[in-house]
Parts: sequence; structure tokens; C-alpha cells
Amino acid sequence: MDRHIQILLNRLSCASITIATFTIVLLLLHTPDTCVPRHTEPKPHQRFPTSSCDFSHRSLTSLDKKNQRLWSTKAWLKTVHSFTALFLDLQSLTHLTNHSKVLCISAGAGHEVMALHQIGVRDVTGVELLDSPPLVSRADPHNLPFFDDVFDLGFSAHLDQALFPTRFALEMERSVRVGGVSVLAVEECGDVEVREIAKLFRKSRFVSAKNVTLIGLKMTRLILRKYMLM
Ligand SMILES: *[C@@H]1O[C@H](CO)[C@@H](O)[C@H](O)[C@H]1NC(C)=O
Repeated sequence: MDRHIQILLNRLSCASITIATFTIVLLLLHTPDTCVPRHTEPKPHQRFPTSSCDFSHRSLTSLDKKNQRLWSTKAWLKTVHSFTALFLDLQSLTHLTNHSKVLCISAGAGHEVMALHQIGVRDVTGVELLDSPPLVSRADPHNLPFFDDVFDLGFSAHLDQALFPTRFALEMERSVRVGGVSVLAVEECGDVEVREIAKLFRKSRFVSAKNVTLIGLKMTRLILRKYMLM
């Protein structure tokens, strides 16, 4: 009887050793999933931000897509086209060249900035209370973050909607260099109003006023040339 038990125990331990060895070999060969580095880029919809840095990267790419969508809408293209016509006119009057340093105040989502880029003007700064990257940065039109006498041309289609038109005009004129021009598009108006607006620009001489159609609206375009330092 003792012998039988001895044999059985021997067999059992042999089997155990075999199973244990087999298991160790398996474990060594099989690396757990969690340690495998991802070699393939996950698809965009599977990516989740793991930190605030990651999140900002995602918001940039989605902003890019949002802009592409916005810039291909009919309304956007039509508005840009309308501004293009206005700026081409300024070019033909030699107030604007490809090398002009231009400031667009209250530039909204940046239609006029894009219009200027499209006709070949590269140095364009667009500002608005709310920024619209990459075309428009944030700045208060009543308190522009620029030195005096910097820009060759200041443009705005929103002087008549400004909270403080006097302050708005002063800041615009301050940012434009001596010899440079302030160009405004305001709701269509007559000589009296034109003179009132021109008076806001105290260091500039009135050059011309012309009735134009801008974005389907009847407007008056004024040009004033700065002749005196601030
Ligand atoms: C201004 O730039 C546009 C676009 O790059 C170009 O077609 C045009 O010829 C340039 N004008 C001058 C006067 O260089």
C-alpha cells in the first residue's frame, strides 16, 4: 500500500512540475496587453484629452476645421468679395499698396483682413473685442495696444456703431503714421455728416468721400490723411 501511495505522489509532483514550468514559459512569452506601447495613431474620434495641454491641441485642430467651414460659406465669400472691391479702389487711388501696413479696427470675424490678404497686402492687423484667430486679435478699439504713428492705413466699417466715436477716431488716427490715411465706411450720409465725422480726426485732412455699396448696404467711404504728429 505504501509503495502505491509513493508512486502516486511521485507522479503527482511530476505533473505539477510540468504544469508549473509550462505556465512560466507561457507567462514569459506572453507580455501583458497593458505594457504594449501603441504604435498606431488613434483615430481622431478615439482621442481624448489627457491633460489641458492635450486639450488645447485638439481645440486648435477643430478651430482650423471650423474656419475652413466658415470661410467656404456663400455669405463669407460674398462679404470678402465686397471688401475686396473697396480695397482695390483704394489701391487704384494709391492709398494702398502690397507693402502697406494696414490696421482693421472692429474687424468682426475678419472678412476685410482676408480680402486684403487676397489682393496681396501681407501686413494686416485685424482687431475686435472678441478675437477670431488667426485673422483677428482681441483689442478694444477705444484703447488700441499700438504705438503712435505705426500704420500706413487704418480701416473701419464700424465707427458709426462705436460706443464712443470720438475716442474710436482718436485711437485710429493715433495709430496711423503721418502721411498715412484713415479710411472709414459709414452708413450712407450727406455732406453735413461727412464733415462731422471728419472733425473727429483732428490731425488729419479730409481727402474724399464717396457713396459705395458694401456688403449690399449703401454706405459712404471717407478718406482722411494724417498731416501732424499726435
Ligand atoms: C500685389 O500682390 C498680388 C498678389 O500677390 C499680385 O498679384 C500683384 O501683382 C501685386 N501688385 C504689385 C503692384 O506688386
